[in-house]
Amino acid sequence: MNKRVKDVVDGIVSAVQRVLDEKEITESEYRTALHYLMKVAEQREIALLCDVFFNSTVVATKARLSSGSTPAIEGPYYREDAPFVVDRLKTYDTDAHKPLLIKGTVKAVDGSVAEGVTIDVWHSTPDGKYSGFHDGIPTDFYRGKLRVGRDGQFSVRTTMPVAYQIPSDGPTGALLETMGGHSWRPAHVHFKVKAPGYETLTTQYYFEGGDWVGDDCCNGVEPSLISPEKVEEGARVMNIDFVIEPALERSGANT
Ligand code: DHB
Ligand code: FE
Repeated sequence: MNKRVKDVVDGIVSAVQRVLDEKEITESEYRTALHYLMKVAEQREIALLCDVFFNSTVVATKARLSSGSTPAIEGPYYREDAPFVVDRLKTYDTDAHKPLLIKGTVKAVDGSVAEGVTIDVWHSTPDGKYSGFHDGIPTDFYRGKLRVGRDGQFSVRTTMPVAYQIPSDGPTGALLETMGGHSWRPAHVHFKVKAPGYETLTTQYYFEGGDWVGDDCCNGVEPSLISPEKVEEGARVMNIDFVIEPALERSGANT
C-alpha cells in the first residue's frame, strides 16, 4: 500500500467523476473518449498530450515552492551528452541566420556566487528543429554546456530560434484543433542551471514581441521569462540573471 499513490489517484478519479456528472457525459461520448485515448497510446502521444495540458501546472507548483528564478517546462529535447562549449554554440553557418547573444549571471538566493555552476543551453534551429531529434542535425549543434566563471558571469553566442510547432498531425494536434486551439510554441531558449549543493533550475526564456508569446499551446510562458527586446552590435541580446536555491532537504535528490 502506497498512501501517496492512493491519495493522488483518489483525487484524480473524483475530479474526473465530477466532470462526467456535471457535463452529463453520455455513454456514447464516453466510448468516443476511450477510442481517442487508445489512439493517443497507439501513436505514442501519451507524453505529448499530458505535457500540453499538465506539465505547466506541475512547473507552476514548483515555482510557488521555490525562492529562485522562475522554472519552466523542460520539453522533450534535452540531451545530457551535450558538449562543453566556450563563446559559441555550434550551428549551421548560413548568412540568413540571425545572431543571438545570451549573457548574464548566476547567483545564489543570498546573493553569493555559487561554485562549479554549469548551464545547459539548447534551442531550435532557424527552421524550428532540435538537433539529435530531427532531420539528422548533428547532436552537438544548437546545444552545449557553459561553465560559469568565478565572477558568476556567462556569455554565449548562437543563432535565433524560431516559433516551434509541436507534432500536430496526430491525435494531440487534432484535439487542440477541435478545441479551436493550435499547436505553436513561441521561440524560446532552454536552460538547465546546475551547481553542487543547489537545486537544478530548469527553465526557458522567450522573446518580447515574438509570435505566440501571448498564446503558447503548452501554456509555458510567465511574464518573468520574457526577455526584453534588445539589440547590441546587430545581435539580439538575451540578458538573464539566474537565481538558484540551495538543495531542498524535502526532495532529497539534486537532479
Ligand atoms: C515541446 C517542444 C518543445 O521545444 C518544448 O520546449 C516543449 C514541448 C513538444 O513538442 O511537446
Ligand atoms: Fe523547446
